Amino acid sequence: MTRPSFRFPDGFHWGAATSAYQIEGSPLADGAGPSIWQRFAHTPGMMANGDTGDIACDHYRRYKDDVQLMKALGLRGYRFSISWARVLPEGTGRVNPKGLDFYSRLVDQLLENGIAPNATLFHWDLPAALDDRGGWLNRDSAHWFAEYAEVMFKALDDRVPRWSTLNEPWVVTDGGYLHGALAPGHRNKFEAPIAGHNLMRASGAGIQAYRAHGRHEIGVVFNIEPKYPYSDRAEDLAATRRAHAYMNLQFADPALLGSYPPELREIFGEAWPDFPEEDLELTNQKVDFVGINYYTRAVVKHDANAYPLQAVSVRQPNRTHTETGWEVFEQGLTDTLTWFKQRYGDIPLYITENGSAFYDPPVAENDALDDPLRTDYLRKHLKALHRAIEAGVNLKGYYAWSLMDNLEWSLGFSKRFGLYHVDFATQKRTPKASAKLYARVIESNGGVLDT
Ligand code: BGC
Repeated sequence: MTRPSFRFPDGFHWGAATSAYQIEGSPLADGAGPSIWQRFAHTPGMMANGDTGDIACDHYRRYKDDVQLMKALGLRGYRFSISWARVLPEGTGRVNPKGLDFYSRLVDQLLENGIAPNATLFHWDLPAALDDRGGWLNRDSAHWFAEYAEVMFKALDDRVPRWSTLNEPWVVTDGGYLHGALAPGHRNKFEAPIAGHNLMRASGAGIQAYRAHGRHEIGVVFNIEPKYPYSDRAEDLAATRRAHAYMNLQFADPALLGSYPPELREIFGEAWPDFPEEDLELTNQKVDFVGINYYTRAVVKHDANAYPLQAVSVRQPNRTHTETGWEVFEQGLTDTLTWFKQRYGDIPLYITENGSAFYDPPVAENDALDDPLRTDYLRKHLKALHRAIEAGVNLKGYYAWSLMDNLEWSLGFSKRFGLYHVDFATQKRTPKASAKLYARVIESNGGVLDT
């Protein structure tokens, strides 16, 4: 028998991902404190169509059914995030046992169904009480995070084999502190580098806490978007270098190399502080793996008016773009993984998010929902992943974003990334064609991609 060319290594970890505020709903139930996303979503004008996470996918109440959706796909792993303010309503100090209990029940449910939990401690929903104390601008945030992390490790590390400290610190600083499109909605060039630095100190402090209290694996999740120059003119090459340093190196370098790239000073100018050396020792903790979220690439051109990078992304003609305007570019996934290994060494890697928002037609009467563009995206990216493995990347697993349609942050429910369609009026879940393909991929360990 000839071996199908797209079969993945034995034991490859197939999963799907979500995050707390995007799916749970009931954000204030059972004694939870408000998060910055609760506040932001309830501030007029911040969210598309005035959408909020008040109900979202109602996962807080339907988690058992949702675990059955995962089981139907054959998932080996499920990546979710923990809402810090459910567990510590004031962010530090008093633990809310009911909040903790929700995650404990979810984890048990996953394990009973043969699905390995992968818990992210911070996927953007900072407790509002901590924002009142300065949020990520306060240097104490590293200690707050370590305190919270320790509570979680003590409660769940006996059952959770894989943890991440942060999800996508770049998005927190760029969206939350520089451009203001995401919570907490600040627009301040002087704040963004500080918030980013404290996030990475927090991640380091969380990893240190894990070494004291945990016995499995911990890592950190970055969104990596490879940057390609628009032309070989010197100014476009320099713009590409800046864009890459800003989005990709600003967080991975302090975590994995203990340094910052020099371009950050070029970009931020007087707003880039001299961070103390010992901080970079804290950020640079040994990780057991790195999670990479990959969605698209950027083709970068110099533009003196673009703040603060002096660089813009140029939309590529004659290419497929998703509903979030992102070019479908699967080669970028292979390139990202091989580049990451080259720069940071042979760290075990997971793709912790990858997926696409496309318009979905209404669910048909026979419960069918054809999503050819999403299916095509999935197929292409899984093949690109396979090519990275063949090129020697130590890739352990893949989590599709997302298990189901959910609240796409300030874009509300208008953008659907799910393998399962969610009817937000009835909460009915329906597998899309992409979900069916993914189930066959998992069952055949990639073999079905040959056909
Ligand atoms: C985030 C998700 C988000 C997805 C699609 C990632 O930046 O981690 O929460 O829904 O991309 O935009």
